[in-house]
Amino acid sequence: MTGVSPVTVPPIVVLDEIDSTNAEARRRAEAGAVEPLWLVGLRQTAGRGRRGRAWETGEGNLAATLLFRTERPPAEAAQVSFVAALAVADLLARYVPSHLISLKWPNDPLLGGLKVSGILVESGASPFGGLWLAVGIGVNLKRKPIDAERPATAIATYLEAPPSPQEAAEVLAEAFERWLRTWDILGFRAIADAWTARAHGLGEPCVARLGHETVEGVAEALDADGALRLRLADGSLRRITAGDVFFGGA
Ligand code: BTN
Repeated sequence: MTGVSPVTVPPIVVLDEIDSTNAEARRRAEAGAVEPLWLVGLRQTAGRGRRGRAWETGEGNLAATLLFRTERPPAEAAQVSFVAALAVADLLARYVPSHLISLKWPNDPLLGGLKVSGILVESGASPFGGLWLAVGIGVNLKRKPIDAERPATAIATYLEAPPSPQEAAEVLAEAFERWLRTWDILGFRAIADAWTARAHGLGEPCVARLGHETVEGVAEALDADGALRLRLADGSLRRITAGDVFFGGA
């Protein structure tokens, strides 16, 4: 007995082909879906990534979106991306040695220092009050993408027989539910601490690309709200709330 009660996982709907599981989640939310639901696409024809980029879902990879409703205010609801990153880390840890797994701010799970997964959170006003959240997660199980902007990897690089998308979705959904519960009960500080324990590059110099500006500094820590604390060369502190960060080329 561990003393931890089992979690109830929302239903997982597996779709043979879909444009994007996030797009499908949005359609369902706007049509009035209320109950939490996982959507898994075995093939995505128009998968989307952060900052308007495309996301390729090679055959055998995981493309999944959790759709649910929250009463949290938007800025707080956005912290769900750290919950998602921790759930991906747990999924990876089921199949590869834990020391290979790290999390790059804001929400890039890495395997052996290379991108193995992407997280895209979308939201809107729910017709039932509060917000709907679509937490889209892509994980390279069997193949790394052909056209990745940056070097990428897949679980199959480390494991001859990676899990199927369906098996991975079940593991991910359960891990996600546990971290959601941690967030609800212990607050974001507990999520931030767990994320920090897996963080990639804290204490190291990095370049942050923020829309129209690029800043350089040392990534110090995760702030209480999920912002990255960047110490600039003049000693001042810059809080990064959105953008991409790069450490030594990664
Ligand atoms: C990133 O750019 O790193 C985020 C990629 C997010 C991809 C996932 S795959 C499942 C879900 N459906 C989408 O169209 N995108 C997300």
